[in-house]
Amino acid sequence: MAAPALVLRNVLLPGGRTADITMQEGKVLHAGAGAGGKADRTIDCTGLYVLPAAVDMHVHMRGGPQSAKEDWATGSRSALAGGVTVVLDQPNTIPPIIRPDALRARVLEAKTHSLCSFAINSGVTQDTPIRSMWDAGAMAFGETFFAPSSNGEAITPGDLESALREISACGALATIHAEEVGPGDDNDLASHNRIRSVEGELRAVREVGRCNTAGCRLHFCHMSTRNSVIAASALGSVEVTPHHLFLSRERFADTDALGKVNPPLRSGKEQNDLWEAWDKITVIASDHAPHTPAEKRAAFPDAPAGIPGVETMVPLLMAAVLEKRVTLPDVIRKTSQAPAEILGIPCAGLDPGDRADVALYPKKAVAIDPDSLHSRCGFSPFSGLPAVFPRMVILGGEVVCEEGEFTCGSPQWFAGKGYCP
Ligand code: DOR
Ligand code: ZN
Repeated sequence: MAAPALVLRNVLLPGGRTADITMQEGKVLHAGAGAGGKADRTIDCTGLYVLPAAVDMHVHMRGGPQSAKEDWATGSRSALAGGVTVVLDQPNTIPPIIRPDALRARVLEAKTHSLCSFAINSGVTQDTPIRSMWDAGAMAFGETFFAPSSNGEAITPGDLESALREISACGALATIHAEEVGPGDDNDLASHNRIRSVEGELRAVREVGRCNTAGCRLHFCHMSTRNSVIAASALGSVEVTPHHLFLSRERFADTDALGKVNPPLRSGKEQNDLWEAWDKITVIASDHAPHTPAEKRAAFPDAPAGIPGVETMVPLLMAAVLEKRVTLPDVIRKTSQAPAEILGIPCAGLDPGDRADVALYPKKAVAIDPDSLHSRCGFSPFSGLPAVFPRMVILGGEVVCEEGEFTCGSPQWFAGKGYCP
């Protein structure tokens, strides 16, 4: 019996044409007038934006002993509800993903519980067996902590240089958390921003460039200022988060650790300047880093850094599209095509052969309400901002999220190119 076919009718394509899109066996089968065969379900997309679903290449899905913050079941629902069908999980878990058996266990955990597709990165420490992690299926290496952060110890410049040599020999991608931590107290958002300064971030980017004597392919995570974006774009691909684009530290009371994150939220002036570098930003990724509300309410110096955001990333950008602040093709490029290309996974799209992951958005924004989000952490520093949430999300040609209801479709594990089963 043939696999079920899903037909999206009246899809407005980039360029202004309208077409019907038929999806079967995880791919787009046909795009044109009418269905390319018998339809098992038909969805009328009149009046909706139909976007290739997003690949969020920077999430911390937690799990294990950190399941009170998030786990694959809740984190993947949060991803789907925000139009993200593929996540790249970061390795600063407990235990960290720095041994092949830990990577294999992490893949199994995600295969068992995740409703969205996923890939897993290898950590990078002085003694991580880079080649074995590559063989075990790591998608990329990092985020490599070039400054300490939550559950991430910093690597020295010498160790980074040797690690980049090994990663480069595998033909793999190194992703870098570039920051510099200066002396001083960390008592509030202002001092947090001072010790992890904008100048320090820029110096760290340049230092990483100097350490890359091997010419390894680099990706700079969560760059928080215009100057860092410009400097990093000369060395590799550049990622920026929604929190650095849509939030500034002045939005929060100074001791409110809900806004504590590494790199820190900057001033409103820095936030505005960051938008000027929009064209140099390769990828928008969330750095979804959930912590429990109780942890975030601790005294500022003890509160962990991190902001949840996988579910609000595309919705915030779609509201910016409605406000004509950014274009729809730019959002598609930076949230879906560019990350897929960087990671070497099939692109989602509306052309025959494309990965059949799409999300359908209404043309109306709502205010973000943390109570209606799906992350276990239950809070959002984006509360109240305008956002456009998808009405329906399709993974591999199957509807997996519709009006707040989730169905388990066929999520995949994307192994890195070095994977030897
Ligand atoms: O604020 C952050 N939190 N920055 C990171 O780089 C790590 C993350 C986390 O895992 O909590
Ligand atoms: Zn980071």
